[in-house]
Amino acid sequence: MPGPATHNDCATLLGKHRIAFYSRMGEGPQTVRLFFAPGRVNLFGGHLDYNGGPVMPTAIDRGTFLAIRPRTDGIVHLQSRLDSQGLEFELGQEPKAKSGRWVDYPVGVIRELLALSKSRGGDGKVCGLDVLFGGNLPVGAGLSSSASICVGTAFALSDVWNLGLNRADQVQCALRAEREFVGVQCGIMDPFAIGLAKPGHLLWLDCKDETFEHLPIDFDELSIVVANSGVQRELAAGEFNKRVQQCASAFQELKLWVPEAQCLRDVDPASFEQHRSKLEPVLEQRASHVVAEVVRTFAARQALLEGDYARLGMFMTETHRSLRDKFEVSSPELDLLVESALEVEGCYGSRLTGAGFGGCTVIMAHPNAVQELVRHVRSRYSKVKGWMPDVEVFHGDSGPREVQL
Ligand code: GLA
Repeated sequence: MPGPATHNDCATLLGKHRIAFYSRMGEGPQTVRLFFAPGRVNLFGGHLDYNGGPVMPTAIDRGTFLAIRPRTDGIVHLQSRLDSQGLEFELGQEPKAKSGRWVDYPVGVIRELLALSKSRGGDGKVCGLDVLFGGNLPVGAGLSSSASICVGTAFALSDVWNLGLNRADQVQCALRAEREFVGVQCGIMDPFAIGLAKPGHLLWLDCKDETFEHLPIDFDELSIVVANSGVQRELAAGEFNKRVQQCASAFQELKLWVPEAQCLRDVDPASFEQHRSKLEPVLEQRASHVVAEVVRTFAARQALLEGDYARLGMFMTETHRSLRDKFEVSSPELDLLVESALEVEGCYGSRLTGAGFGGCTVIMAHPNAVQELVRHVRSRYSKVKGWMPDVEVFHGDSGPREVQL
């Protein structure tokens, strides 16, 4: 059975990352510092964050590695182990427009960090840097590799540059970088889930007012398994922004009839029933997912607090079906992963995670069922698709940090 990434795995991989740093960037007298930022898996509240709803994600013990060494010449040099082409620029001459490449994420964050620290009259020690990115999170698989790189950059550079920014500042810089510089209209869930992670807990985040709470989860009774379909959709970013737009349009229309609502989350099921026929069919479908998902996420919270994991799992599977049928963000591969997981005794529930369109599903199961679950899902998927998907148990994580080896 493929095991989880243990703490040791992470330390071993970071050790290799430091070796890779020296071979890319060369030796030098200054110390190389190593940082880690996790990814996240979303369990409840599918496509609710940008509608002001509640979500319940958790950080996972896979993520982004950063190796950083100060330079004396004011040059910032960014490299990734996934791409031979890096980027160099002088401090004060940060790129002003996105390039469409991975460097947009750290560049966007650097711009935000420097602007925020300047606006506060910051007296940090901003200097040139060599930075090598890497990690053990599948990219573009719905596990938030983009927020992981953004929050990781915000955390590590705030520290190395001594900017005096707290975790909330770092999360906001990461969010603005992705929305404004990279141009994805993402909600607040991903950087919050990563930046505010606490092991053994889910994050309950109310995206309307940004209040949050950590809710304990008993890993002796519940395992979180992630299955990767191995399919990435080219259209994902465009389709994601389209869903954001459709929800905004549905809300504009419904607001005429429910004037007290400040966002789609505020439209209660009774008002929605009364006014749904006024929406165009596609917008009605999208909004009907959101309205039901808000109710379901509160019910899931209650089931979690009561330790009723079977009920919790039932809500998770209902979410998947709603994302599939009403929000139309699933794919045949994701549906196959979900349905095959549900065939195993001891599986509580399953759904696509992240934006959808491809990427991963998440499965909640009793720990005793995990071995059979992994075997069954891999075998069913490979019989239909012809290749073995990665199906692994993920653990929670404590969020961005410096790692001393
Ligand atoms: C993506 C976005 C998140 C959220 C999810 C859907 O992961 O980055 O903000 O909207 O999709 O729940």
